[in-house]
Amino acid sequence: MRHIAIIGTGYVGLVSGSGISDFGHKVICADIAGEKIKMLQAGKMPIYEPGLDELVDRNIKAERLSFSTDVGKTIRDSEVIFISVSTPQSENGEADISAVKAVAKIIGKNLNERKVICTKSTVPIGTGKIVSEIINENKSTETDFEYVSNPEFLREGSAVKDFLWPDRVVIGAESEWAFEIMKDVYRPLYINETPIVHTTVETAELIKYASNAFLSLKISYINEISALCEKVGADVHVVAKAMGSDGRISPKFLHPGPGFGGSCFPKDTSALVSMAQNKNVPMRTIQAAIETNAHQKKRMVKKLQALTGDFSGLTIGILGLAFKSKTDDVRESASLEMVGSLLKAGAQVKAYDPEANTSFAEFYPQITYCKTWEEAVKDTDAVAVMTEWNEFRTMDAKTLKNLMKSPIILDTRNILSRKELQKNGFSFDNVGRPMETK
Ligand code: UDX
Repeated sequence: MRHIAIIGTGYVGLVSGSGISDFGHKVICADIAGEKIKMLQAGKMPIYEPGLDELVDRNIKAERLSFSTDVGKTIRDSEVIFISVSTPQSENGEADISAVKAVAKIIGKNLNERKVICTKSTVPIGTGKIVSEIINENKSTETDFEYVSNPEFLREGSAVKDFLWPDRVVIGAESEWAFEIMKDVYRPLYINETPIVHTTVETAELIKYASNAFLSLKISYINEISALCEKVGADVHVVAKAMGSDGRISPKFLHPGPGFGGSCFPKDTSALVSMAQNKNVPMRTIQAAIETNAHQKKRMVKKLQALTGDFSGLTIGILGLAFKSKTDDVRESASLEMVGSLLKAGAQVKAYDPEANTSFAEFYPQITYCKTWEEAVKDTDAVAVMTEWNEFRTMDAKTLKNLMKSPIILDTRNILSRKELQKNGFSFDNVGRPMETK
């Protein structure tokens, strides 16, 4: 059993901390956000993430997991320190690592014995060197440490599963001593034969960006193909399925939609482009994926407008505010673009998301938030389905028609039955599939 510190209790920190405690280690999650720590100590989750509350609860009860605001003491009491604070996008597109630097300073001041210092946050290549320098500048003794990069690949909405059963674990460590400790941290995965990639710090840092940017590229690619499908009468799902049966392509991340959002893809693609630019390496493909994504979000607004005409004076129902299902996160969500455009054009908006009403209200407090989809679609001139929540998949076309003022629907996630909508006389559109159904 190892003593582990997790500094930063966002998505990555909280899921990693509770996951590592579930592996059998003693973990303290520390954060300077006192309110958040108080909530966690009281057994309440600051985010909605399926399965996280049980994981946290189980490990608190087993006395393997605890929470603290005393970052210094947490560092002193641990042998492996994970830095998992946020690295938001700064104005020039680069990742802002000021929180990582601040943690490095505290680590330096509290370095009381040889430790592994490990960054889990997604950080620009070269951050490892900066963190090591800051720790060295701030330590008051000759105590040694080893720096490790261990990027995290979990997805919101399936974060617990992704952490406990990952496809691979990447460990960027120059020293064998640090690598062996990290292998021990992930021991249950190691003995289950999860691939462990041992590499240098810089390579580990780049693997994270290269992976996220590649997935973004796949999504933008299929979104562009979906636009072409619409023009030539092809079905993007059949195209994606046939493409995906080629083992070299794989069917994953080929689902067309309203454009990707979330806390990672938009930020990481921009960061990779500006990082590469600084080294005089153009990232033309990723730049194109970013542009296509921005265009895709606008394309959804145009699709709705093509169905309704001028938005002014209309009441539009928005189903789904989160950037994807099973999360309450609305960062870079396609609904932000849609609602912004509707309000600008003079429409009224009624919205419903099973988990994200509150977080969306921080951006748009002026719209009407509803408690059910039925309430959100009632007396509307048109509805746009923006997030693929399961409860929207089973909406009954007849009920929808009876509740709405006029039967107009845009399905940006391709989850509704075109046949049913057509049978009930809806004007509708979706992404990359012909409207006529057999
Ligand atoms: C992503 C990466 O998947 C994860 O490995 C990394 O650690 C963090 O970033 P996340 O942002 O939580 O995870 O969600 P993800 O499921 O990857 O979806 C991102 C966005 O792409 C969402 O807006 C989603 O709706 C969209 N998407 C995803 C598509 O439009 N089509 C797809 O086929 C897949």
